[in-house]
Amino acid sequence: MENLVIAGFKLGIIAGGQLGKLLALAASNWDIKTYVLDADEHCPATDVCTKHIRGSHLDFETVYQFGKQVDLLTFEIENVNIEALRKLKAEGKRIVPNPEILAVIQDKGLQKEFYEQHQIPTAPFRFFANKAEIISAINEKQLEFPFVQKSRTGGYDGRGVAVINNAADLPLLLEGPSLVETQVHIARELSVIVARNQRGQVKSFPVVDMVFNPDANLVEKLVCPADIPKATENEAIMLAEKLISDLNMSGLLAVEFFLDTNGKLWVNESAPRPHNSGHHTIESIITSQYEQMLRAIFNFPLGSTTIKLPSVMINLLGEPGFEGPVHYEGLTESLAIEGVKVHLYGKRITRPYRKMGHITVLATTADEASKKADQVKHILKVKA
Ligand SMILES: Nc1ncnc2c1ncn2[C@@H]1O[C@H](COP(=O)(O)OP(=O)(O)OP(=O)(O)O)[C@@H](O)[C@H]1O
Ligand SMILES: [Mg+2]
Repeated sequence: MENLVIAGFKLGIIAGGQLGKLLALAASNWDIKTYVLDADEHCPATDVCTKHIRGSHLDFETVYQFGKQVDLLTFEIENVNIEALRKLKAEGKRIVPNPEILAVIQDKGLQKEFYEQHQIPTAPFRFFANKAEIISAINEKQLEFPFVQKSRTGGYDGRGVAVINNAADLPLLLEGPSLVETQVHIARELSVIVARNQRGQVKSFPVVDMVFNPDANLVEKLVCPADIPKATENEAIMLAEKLISDLNMSGLLAVEFFLDTNGKLWVNESAPRPHNSGHHTIESIITSQYEQMLRAIFNFPLGSTTIKLPSVMINLLGEPGFEGPVHYEGLTESLAIEGVKVHLYGKRITRPYRKMGHITVLATTADEASKKADQVKHILKVKA
């Protein structure tokens, strides 16, 4: 692969959000030219990539023409026109990860079936063609409260998920094909990011603890390393490594887990791309998730995932009640706190709960990092 990297190699990245921006920055360390496809002229990656091509990742012709311009194609989102990727691949284009893996993951139903077929523990589920089928299953006493309904395709950041505790929640039911799964009594939500290259080398990042904001249904705080028993940590890593190997996948896979109140792990979902739960790796781990992804897709040896310092990551979300051109409040006071690292994504417009940046706080213990992160959360505000 060495010659690929030094010869003005063109890496195509589908979508230029914060993940695409951070991936393009890592690629530039290796002098890889990054071509980014994104419909938004002000997308975060636009200022750091080699070339920004404006267009929709959902449009067949746009994705196809974009792919033809680059030497290797990858993606930082799941919602991509698969048919275009399939055609490019059939014509010999290198696409990593394999689009067929994306096809499984794009459909939460196929994803859940894959877990079931490969003995990966996941909450029991059933498929429904539409809302009316769910209501008749309830009326016929074939489905009991509580349950969690998920749209098979198109959901992200909690949109596409309905938690139905009782009949009063039924208006929340989602239209269209969905799966309904057992509600897990969640004690913690954990994430493991795992990488695999074409040589079959596999390496995981340490387990992280994801703390959710119940109002926004977004990860609010991410603690690395997670304070969990060694056996749980080993099992989560074992399951993530089994999953990426079972998928026969090259690239980066983020695996989200529920740890239930009995200490059992369930795989919730996975994403074959860099992940919000890996932002802290930039400063707190020897190899960042972005560098690891490049190592994996270029089939280089994977890098060390040893922790340099414990960390807490918080998303910098648009303050509720503000929408418009962004400004940041409290940067000076935040940067005065030792160990605070600020990442602003460069989105021009803020909206309530929009991911505008993130902060990683490094400290000698995760508790100390967590206290400092809480301070920053109070000081640093994204307003319009
Ligand atoms: N079976 C379940 N039992 C209990 N809570 C659940 C269940 N499934 C999902 N949830 C809750 O809903 C959240 C969102 O679900 P999920 O991760 O499947 O959706 P998503 O929209 O793809 O999420 P994101 O893009 O935020 O990762 C979970 O993080 C969890 O808090
Ligand atoms: Mg999720």
